[in-house]
Amino acid sequence: MGEEGDLAATRLARGCRCYVVWIEGAVAGYGWLSTGPEWIGELQLEIKPREREGYIWNCVTLAEHRRRGVFRSLVAGITIAARRHGDRRMWIGSVAIPPEKALGPLGFEPALRFDSVTLVGMHVMRVTRASNRRLATDASSVLAVRPGLLIRGSHRRRH
Ligand SMILES: CC(C)(COP(=O)(O)OP(=O)(O)OC[C@H]1O[C@@H](n2cnc3c(N)ncnc32)[C@H](O)[C@@H]1OP(=O)(O)O)[C@@H](O)C(=O)NCCC(=O)NCCS
Repeated sequence: MGEEGDLAATRLARGCRCYVVWIEGAVAGYGWLSTGPEWIGELQLEIKPREREGYIWNCVTLAEHRRRGVFRSLVAGITIAARRHGDRRMWIGSVAIPPEKALGPLGFEPALRFDSVTLVGMHVMRVTRASNRRLATDASSVLAVRPGLLIRGSHRRRH
């Protein structure tokens, strides 16, 4: 986890689960699953998954293993494991990069869209609903955010 390596112990201690893709005995990628409240730095929001929900975050494929399906396998594996734990819905954030195309075929649907910019310590964000209104409403609830414009101070948290 590079410079975030020291955070692993505190994440595990607060109940986050870490999932790893191994290739020939070495870590190729990893991702985290939280069922409790978790900070989302990109949005400057906290997500509070409801009962039997989880939030997948901080998914990374090590540079030498990219574009070989590690991220896809990781997210698929986390959702299967979560289902076995009895979780019925997973939330995940995507940052408009090509690998997000892996998420639709795994059953993920857009819920909310965020367009944001951080300027002189202020985080300015427009929140819009995706077409699935019920999903958008549920996402608004777990993030405690409403569609519209949101302006607040920007804070960096190590978590
Ligand atoms: C985002 C990230 C996790 C993707 O990991 P990955 O293991 O390379 O992704 P996959 O190989 O599973 O790719 C899934 C799909 O996206 C495509 N893809 C991945 N990277 C791509 C790129 N840079 N350009 C175009 N397509 C890309 C893959 O080809 C694959 O599609 P395909 O099966 O149709 O070919 C990795 O690039 C990464 O760790 N980035 C830094 C951290 C980050 O940005 N994380 C964001 C999530 S929190």
